[in-house]
Amino acid sequence: MEKAVIAPYEQERRPSRVNSRQHPLLRAALAFGLLVISGYTGLYTAYTTFNTSTSLAKVPINAEQIIQKCVNLNAIPAPTADFHAREESDRYVPGTKATLIKNATIWTGNVDGLEIILSGDLLLDKGIIQAVGKVPKDALSAYGRDHLEVLDANGSWVSPGIVDLHSHLGDYSSPKLRGSDDTNSRKGLVQPWLRSLDSLNTHDDAYQLSIAGGVTTVVVLPGSANAIGGQAFVIKLRPTEERSPSSMLLEPPFTFNGSGIEEVLPPRWRQLKQACGENPSRVYSGTRMDTIWAYRQGYEEARKLKVKQDAYCEKAVTGQWDSLGDFPEDLQWEALVDVLRGKVKIQNHCYEAVDLDGIVRLTNEFKFPIAAFHHAHETYLVPDLLKKAYGHTPAVALFATSARYKRESYRGSEFAPRILADNGIQVVMKSDHPVLNSRFLMYEAQQAHYFGLADNLALASVTSTPAKIMGQEHRIGYIRKGYDADVVLWDSHPLAIGATPKQVFIDGVAQLKTPFVMPKSDALQRAPETPDFEEETKAALKYDGLPPLEPKESVSDVVIFQNFDSLFLDMGDGVEQIFAAEDYVGEPQIAIVQNGKLTCIGTSEVCSKNFNVNSRTINLHGGSLAPGLLSYGSPLGLVHITGEESTQDGEVFDSLTGKIPSILGGDSAVIRAVDGLQFTTRDALLAYRSGVTTGITAPCSSGLLAGLSTAFNTGAAHKLIKGAVMQNEVALHVSLSLSFPVSVSTQIATLRTLLSGGAKGELGVQIAKVLRGQIPLVIGVHSADIMASLIQLKTEVEKEYGSVIRMTFTGASEAHILAKQIGAAGVGVIISPARSFPYFWDMRRILPGPPLTQHSAVSTLLANNVTVGVGVNFDESWAVRNTRLDVSWGVQAALEAGGEVSKAEAIALASSNLEKLLGLKTGTVSSNLVATTGGTILDFESKVVAVASAKRGAVDLF
Ligand SMILES: *[C@@H]1O[C@H](CO)[C@@H](O)[C@H](O)[C@H]1NC(C)=O
Ligand SMILES: *[C@@H]1O[C@H](CO)[C@@H](O)[C@H](O)[C@H]1NC(C)=O
Ligand SMILES: *[C@@H]1O[C@H](CO)[C@@H](O)[C@H](O)[C@H]1NC(C)=O
Ligand SMILES: *[C@@H]1O[C@H](CO)[C@@H](O)[C@H](O)[C@H]1NC(C)=O
Repeated sequence: MEKAVIAPYEQERRPSRVNSRQHPLLRAALAFGLLVISGYTGLYTAYTTFNTSTSLAKVPINAEQIIQKCVNLNAIPAPTADFHAREESDRYVPGTKATLIKNATIWTGNVDGLEIILSGDLLLDKGIIQAVGKVPKDALSAYGRDHLEVLDANGSWVSPGIVDLHSHLGDYSSPKLRGSDDTNSRKGLVQPWLRSLDSLNTHDDAYQLSIAGGVTTVVVLPGSANAIGGQAFVIKLRPTEERSPSSMLLEPPFTFNGSGIEEVLPPRWRQLKQACGENPSRVYSGTRMDTIWAYRQGYEEARKLKVKQDAYCEKAVTGQWDSLGDFPEDLQWEALVDVLRGKVKIQNHCYEAVDLDGIVRLTNEFKFPIAAFHHAHETYLVPDLLKKAYGHTPAVALFATSARYKRESYRGSEFAPRILADNGIQVVMKSDHPVLNSRFLMYEAQQAHYFGLADNLALASVTSTPAKIMGQEHRIGYIRKGYDADVVLWDSHPLAIGATPKQVFIDGVAQLKTPFVMPKSDALQRAPETPDFEEETKAALKYDGLPPLEPKESVSDVVIFQNFDSLFLDMGDGVEQIFAAEDYVGEPQIAIVQNGKLTCIGTSEVCSKNFNVNSRTINLHGGSLAPGLLSYGSPLGLVHITGEESTQDGEVFDSLTGKIPSILGGDSAVIRAVDGLQFTTRDALLAYRSGVTTGITAPCSSGLLAGLSTAFNTGAAHKLIKGAVMQNEVALHVSLSLSFPVSVSTQIATLRTLLSGGAKGELGVQIAKVLRGQIPLVIGVHSADIMASLIQLKTEVEKEYGSVIRMTFTGASEAHILAKQIGAAGVGVIISPARSFPYFWDMRRILPGPPLTQHSAVSTLLANNVTVGVGVNFDESWAVRNTRLDVSWGVQAALEAGGEVSKAEAIALASSNLEKLLGLKTGTVSSNLVATTGGTILDFESKVVAVASAKRGAVDLF
């Protein structure tokens, strides 16, 4: 890499313009007509003396500036030399009181994230951290009582603010409206001249939500539709007095608000978004070959311009002023020239080996480094390739478990963070907000930790590592004296499930006005002890990212489970905890399963007639037995790869906006999901291994009427196996939305017509079942206004027919607004996504829960006697495997409701409640039993080791 011209620079407190400041050597050179430039551009050393009497006349009047510009060209971005002596942040908000956080457990990020100050104080003032650990008494006495806020942390964990290396917050705004979708330009493959700052919406609903999750700084990247999508900008999320996008920026390059302005030394880092693979190919109807050629063309433009500039400067610094002309510049290409001069952090969306290889070759052809590969699902398979990148090995910015949504991510592995770290590669967890809601970015780090990334690296992956990769590690990402006062006070260890900020400071300003804090158990005050995934990690590599997911063995003989600490069962009236080791004294309990069916629970003596000496014994090491979970809300079992049409069942016709072929029966056709089931999708098998034993899936539809859902065993090999389909037809599914191409009133009118005798043929038969209460009508709906209309419609129809309709709302982001009425109407609710987010207008009135509101949607509905189920957290089937953790997050959020939600009630949210809400035959839940080691199915400490299925007559062992 090219080096800075002459280092170190002597800096003033704030860098000043070139004309008022020169390098002393340059000053001397100009004064004596003698110019010595050492190491200029790293390519040559020039030593020129020229005859003052003859040459002076030719020297242009701005020679000094030209030479300074040339000297500066290759200066590498850095903080000013006296940066760490600062006493006030450039982002300090005058009038902000100093804050003393007393008695905190501080994770500083120092020593590779291994330093923890067990009991220390933090002094925040003037936008920076003034002291860490022991705060000197005299530092405090300087403040009057009125100028110091004191916050007693009572030993709570404190971490640096979360840093998100990959966000579209503000550019891809929430709620999504046509007027604010500003992520992707469609005007060309290579557009380094675009800037995400120009799209930054200051009214995005996500700012407050993400802050409430502890996020303080994000890189706002242009989208990935282009090979070079444009320049990215670093922002802090807090509101500013000026209320402008520009005032949110953190250390923007000096040229952000003017072109051709004089250089300031040292320069600041710039960020550039690049993307390869499917997205640019898709948007521009091209191929990977076209994309890489577009890159090479763009970089060749930049290279040529750089050569011209360097030639110009060579002449200038050697005094060849004759006909030198103007400095070669081009506003379109200057950002790429800066890439070639080593002044830009490239954030490169890139997934597969084929694309990573292409970019690594590109970096060596044009000689520039990549800061990080993002998404990067195959990087763990090719660490040695990454190490061949020009300059240095790129970091890798990942999702924890989001994968298989397109071919590029099909080989994604939950073990990637750990494997990359083992290879000495820096790992970042990122949100791609709003793809993942960055409020829960710490949850990504938690999952990476669960699957094997060391706790110090997991915490670093959302704080110090991204700060370093974006070039801001001199001021954010650590708890250090002199760093920005971006600090999160947590209600538990940040890697514990459900960790929620109690307070968030940005630039020393407390962001939560009246934070609602939940009590948390002592067990959550330390990092979870995660299970051993050594074998699975090795298999991911051995099988090139596609390890077999089927059970190792299926046992129909007697299996004895022993050494479990808890046992949950559905005895027909919801899930109950049958056994808790902490309340039990006596002989150890065992559970006997034969042909997949639970036959005895008790001491060995009590159950002795149920087994013999040859029976298989499984030691659960303090684990648990619990009913298998259910999942609703994704196309699980209908789709292998979301982005690939040829791998999925496909969409049904919509009778409201299109014509249904008459050969199918026209408007009276009803599609059954069971007819399209595909078994052994990787998402289903992973769900099975994660304790989700039953998938309930409706036909895929983007219109009003979807059809009949089905319930299937997620671990079955094919449909013809006994017990593979648990229930052919489950419920009738419709959806209503403001986003449909016909009016909401038309949608309601259609539903009214159908429910009032307007449905013929097969549809008439199914509607009749709904009217008799034989099957539920499951309605996908988010808007409270639409729900209100539906409740009225229900009353109308019930009056007309004298029957009770079983109605369930799914989605239901705004259901809490009508909690009382929903409860009174006897309507059930499946919250999906499990953690609401205002993706669209009709989802915007969410009840976010602590720390923003005391109550959450789940707790509010439960308090109003609504039967609540938790649906999948995204409408994609990769997310189903996370059900047990999502439920656990929901429970953490519901704790504040006063009455504690027990583990049994939590399990019910994703099992017996869903059974009831979707109208499954009772017994669906009780037919599967999941065995975990190390903890209950809801814990980060546990791992699923076996599933017993009564319907299939076997115990599957993993
Ligand atoms: C610390 O404990 C005190 C006294 O119980 C309480 O008022 C305060 O809110 C607690 N602080 C935090 C940050 O939880
Ligand atoms: C810090 O808080 C913890 C928990 O409340 C308490 O046990 C401990 O004594 C406190 N330490 C100091 C130094 O105040
Ligand atoms: C550009 O922004 C900087 C930093 O905020 C400010 O000092 C400067 O005055 C701005 N320049 C113009 C031309 O607005
Ligand atoms: C919920 O049910 C309980 C027990 O049946 C009852 O006491 C309570 O009033 C109900 N709450 C509401 C809001 O209907």
